[in-house]
Amino acid sequence: MKHKKKGGFSGQLGFVMAAAGSAVGLGNIWRFPYLTAKDGGGIFLLVYFILVITFGFTLLTSDLAIGRKTKKSSIYAYGKMKKGWKFLGVLTFIVPALIMTYYAVIGGWITKYVTIYLTNSGDEATKDGYFTGFITSNVAPIAFMFIFMAITSLIVFLGVEKGIEKFSKIIMPGLFIIIIIIAVYSLTLEFSGKDASGKAVVRTGLEGLKVYVIPDFKGMTIQRFLQILLDAMSQLFFSLSVSMGIMITYGSYVDDKVDMNKSITQIEIFDTIAAFLAGMMIIPSIYVFSGIEGMSAGPGLVFISLPKVFKAMGLPGKLVGLVFFVMVFFAALSSCISVLETLVANCMELFHVTRKKITCILTIIYTVASVVICLGYNVFYFEFKLPNGSVGQLLDIMDYVSNSFLMPLISLLSAILIGWVVGPDWVTDEVQKNGEKFKRKMVYRIMIKYVAPVVFVILFMQSIGILK
Ligand code: PHE
Repeated sequence: MKHKKKGGFSGQLGFVMAAAGSAVGLGNIWRFPYLTAKDGGGIFLLVYFILVITFGFTLLTSDLAIGRKTKKSSIYAYGKMKKGWKFLGVLTFIVPALIMTYYAVIGGWITKYVTIYLTNSGDEATKDGYFTGFITSNVAPIAFMFIFMAITSLIVFLGVEKGIEKFSKIIMPGLFIIIIIIAVYSLTLEFSGKDASGKAVVRTGLEGLKVYVIPDFKGMTIQRFLQILLDAMSQLFFSLSVSMGIMITYGSYVDDKVDMNKSITQIEIFDTIAAFLAGMMIIPSIYVFSGIEGMSAGPGLVFISLPKVFKAMGLPGKLVGLVFFVMVFFAALSSCISVLETLVANCMELFHVTRKKITCILTIIYTVASVVICLGYNVFYFEFKLPNGSVGQLLDIMDYVSNSFLMPLISLLSAILIGWVVGPDWVTDEVQKNGEKFKRKMVYRIMIKYVAPVVFVILFMQSIGILK
């Protein structure tokens, strides 16, 4: 039986919004600000921006071009590109397959925080141990995960144009407006009081902005710089949703007439500005209310530190907190949708089943998997030492295998395939198929052939602990 051709995006706008919806997510709002804070503000920003226009652009272009040219999702796309390379498609498929086990779990945590701010002032979230208490409890994290999973499935169930595109076109502009408003608001904040040693201090949002954007080269060593580079690079993979087949699938839905060159630039800009503004709303507010020390909060930044900041804002904080978590909720939702969609698309091609049927089946499988991940914080709790030295639970292991191990490996293999096996023209021809001018063609060629393979080998060795 020939299965029906899958639907696609209605045009460039729908495509860019959906791709930006996938790209803008927890990576931008939660991970980017805390990495920036950890890695010395302005230096990290600078390194990240340079990587976006070189590596990010190269990976995004490759994925989208592979998708549009082959009109397939990862498993078949790589095989169609070159005989014998289907294995790379399968490897790529594993990444969203793993991410999907935990993304809805984190989505559930965010859903919970939305409800805290919706039903009361959100003050309870500022109590010591609140977040840990919540994620280690038996029932609540599972219940909230169900809600998040159900909404994700529903939208994927509705299809590419009627579900994903329609949703993204409404959500993404709204998201942007909210980020801008909170970012500007955070610059107006001011705190005057006593610091830990009892000295009177005044801290303002504008000073916080300086901490965020001005590079601080004090005490910089080569080793530290390399660490910043690696952090920025892994952030880039994650943030642009590249090297995991998502952009291949989305690329396969793009009409041949769409200007790829323009769309790629727009997606890059969208994702980077969203990350920058997320930092601008979070870092100055943390600085104002908790000082420089507050910035080292790490992954707990959004769930533990920010509620305290919202509380310190007084009355406006209740509204800002609510709006903030609603925004994170939608950002995470559109990302989770892209993960599930990629799995659905691959399985539709593999098993020749309808979208509706496979969406239901995958939802059931992943709901069960997510329950297991939730229980990883209590019933199935154990501590596992990861090759990079950190200790993690089930969720961290999934995250490590997909993001730190598989993504650099896939990027490396894909750079070899494009740069040396089929040749960069395979991609660049697709980008300028309608006679568009591919402005960064030279950058693309040099990156994919020479720079990317070398850097990805280093990144891969670092992630598996060979390189310290
Ligand atoms: N790109 C998304 C973000 O920045 C994260 C993501 C990762 C989305 C993996 C889908 C898959 O948050």
